[in-house]
Amino acid sequence: MSTAFINWSNRLHWLWLTLATVLAAPVQADVLQESSQRFHPQWSAGGMVASQERLASLAGAEILASGGNAVDAAVATAFALAVTLPQAGNLGGGGFLVLWLPGPSPAAGRGCPTAPELRLGRGLAVAVNFRETAPLAASAGMFVGPEGEVDRQRATRSLFSVAVPGSPAGLLLSHRCYGRLSRATVMAPAIRLASSGFPLGKELADSLRQATPLLQTDPTSSQLFLKGPLRPGQLWRQPLLAASLRRIADQGEPGFYEGPIADALVTLMRKRGGLIRHADLKGYRAQLVRPLQARFRNHAVLTMPPPSGGGVTLLQMLQVLEPMALAELGLNSAATLHRMVEAMNLAYRDRNHWLGDPDHVAMPLERLLSAAYAEQLRAQIRSERHRPAVELAAEGPSSAGTNTTHLSVADPQGGMVALTTTLNFAYGSGISVPGAGFLLNNEMDDFTAKPGVANAYGLVQGSANAIAPGKRPLSSMTPTLVFRPDGRPWLATGSPGGSRIITTVLQVLLNRLVHGLNLAAAVASPRIHSQLWPDQISVEQGLSPDTVRLLEAKDHRVVVTATMGSANSVEVLPEGGSLGAADPRRRGAAAIGELPLN
Ligand code: GLY
Repeated sequence: MSTAFINWSNRLHWLWLTLATVLAAPVQADVLQESSQRFHPQWSAGGMVASQERLASLAGAEILASGGNAVDAAVATAFALAVTLPQAGNLGGGGFLVLWLPGPSPAAGRGCPTAPELRLGRGLAVAVNFRETAPLAASAGMFVGPEGEVDRQRATRSLFSVAVPGSPAGLLLSHRCYGRLSRATVMAPAIRLASSGFPLGKELADSLRQATPLLQTDPTSSQLFLKGPLRPGQLWRQPLLAASLRRIADQGEPGFYEGPIADALVTLMRKRGGLIRHADLKGYRAQLVRPLQARFRNHAVLTMPPPSGGGVTLLQMLQVLEPMALAELGLNSAATLHRMVEAMNLAYRDRNHWLGDPDHVAMPLERLLSAAYAEQLRAQIRSERHRPAVELAAEGPSSAGTNTTHLSVADPQGGMVALTTTLNFAYGSGISVPGAGFLLNNEMDDFTAKPGVANAYGLVQGSANAIAPGKRPLSSMTPTLVFRPDGRPWLATGSPGGSRIITTVLQVLLNRLVHGLNLAAAVASPRIHSQLWPDQISVEQGLSPDTVRLLEAKDHRVVVTATMGSANSVEVLPEGGSLGAADPRRRGAAAIGELPLN
């Protein structure tokens, strides 16, 4: 072999190694962050709040500046979203929260249920399940008509579609057990926004106009949301909602689940044929639960257990993809996307078959999350060809929906909260509680109305998620925290988007942890989604047509769709301070650093 050849061969080898290292190694992320990236996160010397609505993020930032921790700020932001983002923020819905706080647990002596907290690094992690429950009078076939068909109107737009709200209980429990400031302090910004009003933003004015046909079907919603011109800039006051929030601030849980608000809700149900009664409201309990935990490339990932289907599905996809050379194959290359889609389809098959409310169904979680099972799934992925959905599970019809909202908070001590909350559809059932100023969810549609028939998100689910009294419907909400290899807190994320939530969170994590994008670029990067049925890849605008052709050559069907998700995310910086990225897909989202007190 000539010396010249050896030199060239060495040089090519060196060049390849360098290229592979730059492409593959997240350690290069700091270099890439400043010089090579087109998006940049917000920076703060203190804490950070990222949510889908600016005034709500400001409310959280104000609470951080008053000395509140991440839980105080998240609870303040969520109550504020109930005022400023009525399409998804709520009192009449539910959600999930995952938190990590430094130091010993503050919950002792606060009248909290025994918390299965997880010690992680120099702090504790816990999750809060405030998913809505089916009313005690609910039954498995309640949405199936005489001909065996699912009655979509009844399942999504009637009082039967309303599950027992969990948000007030979940936010109050989180605050009582893990907050630092008083309840009055954390609820003050929401009460102020509702009573003094705020100028209607263009996004909300447009959204209310679009929702007019739905809202005008209910006399109370018409009165609350459609009275007067819906012009951007108009001051919008919500005195009834302010009174409800004040009642909750004064009395805690009984302020919502007993007394005048509960009476108004039950009277509405009795008058117009819904199922929720006083016993449902009085018996509702938010739960403290242990987060699901897995390691991905040396990072601890904490996420929500069932009745979220999101956490299990996310961890399954991460485990299947972990050893694959995705960075070398390239961000958004056809080879990378193909592997992701195949992993998504396998994980969604398990989601739809196995998962449900752990208080009602047994699930083989240990097996589904084991390394051996991930290896079995990985072995089913062929790099050259898409595996048709029909080979994996029986077919079902498709449809779509995209609401819910996610907020993330980092505090100056490194505390982190990821909180996702929902009414299910935008404006939920469209029905409001007379005299109380808020909308009710239509979360009963997240149950399997009839095994094998798709819900509004095109999810075809099994009997594990059948309706039963007091049961919580399976959700896709996936609030998630990530830790540095040394156990220090790093990243909080999550998203709305129905069934697209889980794949949105997956992509934020892969973009950040594998492809070395900074937080803002990781959130902004174009997304794809596949959920087995329909057997197609949904892609956002921004994926190259060449890539689409390469995917089609592997037998994928590719469909360009509307944007997916809104992954408002934050990071704790190792040197102190924080970063935040509001998802650019939804106008009005904002990441706001801790505000200095005047
Ligand atoms: N309602 C949407 C979800 O919980 O996944």
